Parts: sequence; C-alpha cells; structure tokens
Amino acid sequence: MTALETRPSDAFANDRAHVFHSWSAQGALNPLVVAGAQGSWFWDEAGNRFLDFSSQLVNVNIGHQHPKLVAAIQEQAGKLCTIAPFHANEARSEAARLITEAANLTADAGWDGKGLDMVFFTNGGAEATENAIRMARLHTGRHKILNTYRSYHGATAGAITLTGDPRRWASEPGAPGIVKFWGPYPYRSAFHSTNEVEETERALAHLADVLMVEGASNVAGIILETVVGTNGILVPTPGYLEGVRALCDQHGIMLILDEVMAGFARCGEWFAFQAFGVRPDLVCFAKGSNSGYLPIGGVVIGRHVADSFRDKAYPGGLTYSGHPLACASVVASINIFKEEGIVEHSRMLGADVIGPALADLQAKHPSVGEVRGLGTFWAIELVRNRETREPLVPYNAAGADAKPMGDLAAACKAKGVWPFTHFNRLHVVPPCNTPVDEVRHGLAVIDEALAVADAYVTA
Ligand SMILES: Cc1ncc(COP(=O)(O)O)c(C=O)c1O
Repeated sequence: MTALETRPSDAFANDRAHVFHSWSAQGALNPLVVAGAQGSWFWDEAGNRFLDFSSQLVNVNIGHQHPKLVAAIQEQAGKLCTIAPFHANEARSEAARLITEAANLTADAGWDGKGLDMVFFTNGGAEATENAIRMARLHTGRHKILNTYRSYHGATAGAITLTGDPRRWASEPGAPGIVKFWGPYPYRSAFHSTNEVEETERALAHLADVLMVEGASNVAGIILETVVGTNGILVPTPGYLEGVRALCDQHGIMLILDEVMAGFARCGEWFAFQAFGVRPDLVCFAKGSNSGYLPIGGVVIGRHVADSFRDKAYPGGLTYSGHPLACASVVASINIFKEEGIVEHSRMLGADVIGPALADLQAKHPSVGEVRGLGTFWAIELVRNRETREPLVPYNAAGADAKPMGDLAAACKAKGVWPFTHFNRLHVVPPCNTPVDEVRHGLAVIDEALAVADAYVTA
C-alpha cells in the first residue's frame, strides 16, 4: 500500500505511533487528519470543513492550494528541483530581486546607500534570526544582542535564547550575550503608563537605560518583531520604532526586524516596517513569503552590512539555501500578490471589516478586554474583569487552568472556524486574501463563541 492509499484510520494510527509532534506531550494528542484544503478552507477525512482563521501557523497568507502557485511549483519541478547554493539559478535570482524590490518600496532619497539590497536564503524563520544576529555581530565586531520579552524568534539554539516567552525556559541556560528588555504594551504596561504617548516615552527611556548598563558599545544588534505576533499582536506605539532606530544610530547598533510573521501582506504592507516609517539594517522573513508551500525563509541585508562580507567570507551556509523549488514558489507568490492586490486587500480587511467588527465585539462582550491589530493580524484579549484586567486564563496556563480558552476554541471549531489561540487571546489571522463574506462569517462565529468566555466574567 502506498502512502496515498492508506485509510484515514491508518493515517491517524501511524501518526500516533510514529510522528513526534512539536511543543507537545506526545501522550494525549488527537491531531485532525486533514484531507485537503482550498482557499481559506480545509477539511478532514469525514468532510468536516473549517474556515482557516489561523492561516495554520499564521503563514498561509495566500490561502491554500492557490492554483497559480501550485502550477509554478510543478513547472519548476519539471525544470530543476535542486542545485547547490554556490551555483546561480534563475528562480533564486528572481526571488532575491523581487524580495529586495518589495523591501525598498518606501526607501527615500535619504536612505544613504543602506538599501536592503541582498538576500541570504534559509529554510525557515529560526535560521533567519540566527543568521541575522550572526551578521550583526560580524559587521559591528560586537557581541551583545538585545531583544524584548513577549517575543518569539524560533526554536534553534540562538533563536530560542532570543525568544521572550516560556518556550525558552526549557532551553536555558541559552546562548550567551543576549539581554532582554520590555517593549511597549499599553494594555499591560511594564511602565505603568496611562496612555500611548507615555508608553512610548517610558519604553524608550527604559531601553536607553538598558543600553547604558549593558554598555552600548558592546551591543551588535537589537532584534524586534516589528509587530509582535504570537505573543499578542502588539502593535508598536506611535514613535517607538523610530525611537529605537535613533538609539541604534546613536550607538552604531544594527536594527534587526523579525518579520517572519508580520511580513508579506499580514500587516497590510509588503513589509510591516513600511507602516511605521523605519529603516531596518536587517529583516528576517519566512512564512508569508510563499505561504509555506515549501520551506523557505531568509534575511534581507542592508548594503552596508553585506559590504562587510565583500572581501571576507561570510561564515554561514545551508545545503538548501535558495532552494530552486522554494524560490520559484516565492517568485510566483509575489507575482500573485501583485496581480490580485493581496497587500491592499489585507489592509482593507483590517480597516473596513475586521477592525470595526472587533470593536463591536468589544462593546458587546464583557470578556473582551481589548482588541488590537492591523491588516489581517488581530488579537482579542480576553479578561475575567475589565476593571482589573485579570486575564481569562493565567499567563502560560496549562491543563485545567487553560480550560476557558480550550472551551472557546472548541466552540469555534464546532461551528466550523479554526481559531488561533495563545494564552488569554484569540487571534484573528485568516489568509490575507480571504473574501469579505468569509471573514464576516468567521467573525459571526467568534461572536457566538464568545458567550463561552463571557460566562467566566466576574465583574
Ligand atoms: C516572529 C517569528 N520569528 C521566527 C519564527 C520561527 O520561524 P520557523 O518556525 O519557521 O523557524 C516565528 C515562527 O512562528 C515567528 O513568528
């Protein structure tokens, strides 16, 4: 029997017997056996259909099985499946050209030759952040990297040390030279701010203090998620990223923006930093660049950083760096984004559909403490008490403590919407090209399901 002939029951049984799953205790898993997917929907072998309000792991920005993307991969497979990274190749060259073109869209005349001109390809996001911090260290000749709590940067050794959430704990002590600080989060301010202006000022003053006591001249890079993803869709407060850029300029520090989740239309821009008018030195990308149809990621490198490796070798590489099949899928995906206006569609969904609908949910449901986001990148933060802002479930809750969120997710799934939940939040992150009526349908299901969360409200 070939793999494709296995019966559904075999797929499940073989998974349970032989597939070791990410981030999970292996004993109690009950994975859905997915039979197929199209557009913003996927379905199981019994024919149960789910509207994908998670874009899987917030990566299927173009939706499932886009016919032109599938065709481009098939065409490339017929031409050249693989070639070593030291050769040049049409798909890789074009992918790099298109990515840098998108990254430089908002560059102005004052960009100072720091154009984001080069791409180092990886197989995913973690390798992108690993290589970005390596580049910053080698370019500056310094060692320390600063980054925020409430962040995720991947699960390899350096990337998990960067990660500012509980997924890091089991891998500690991690790589040396990585220091954490607090970023802006007005709803749960680390600085007891009462408004966004204060939050920006205090967060920047805090970062300046951290630089002082760590010794700014030791710091190679500051790496931030432009808009924090899994840890809460934390949109930077006005002026914050500009302020971080100014501190970096003052001290000769590389600003690395991790756009693995926030990039490629998710925030209604090609790159999220374009919504905030900042110029990073290095940008990490992965997920939305080809919607995960094949594994790929990378670092977009400012010319000034790339020039450090003009005469001396860059000490890093991967067998599959710039894999032709994956690169062909990036080329096709970017071209489809342009043809179908997917960046603009995502921006419109945020401004005209999701944002207003979530504001209505906040007005209606006592469990909704705050809603925030942009494009197709939104969070509903759930609380038991709006006054105290006590979260619906504790930070990093598991088991019985996490039950309210588990019940909420189950209520969405029972009505055919697959949600993305994390801690006390439900994220609204459908594919960036989801039609308006399907987005409205998903939001209506969430509206009904929120009764589950409302039942826990104490005040
Ligand atoms: C912001 C960010 N950076 C890095 C990563 C790691 O990417 P990967 O899982 O492809 O290694 C992720 C994954 O979710 C992410 O959201």
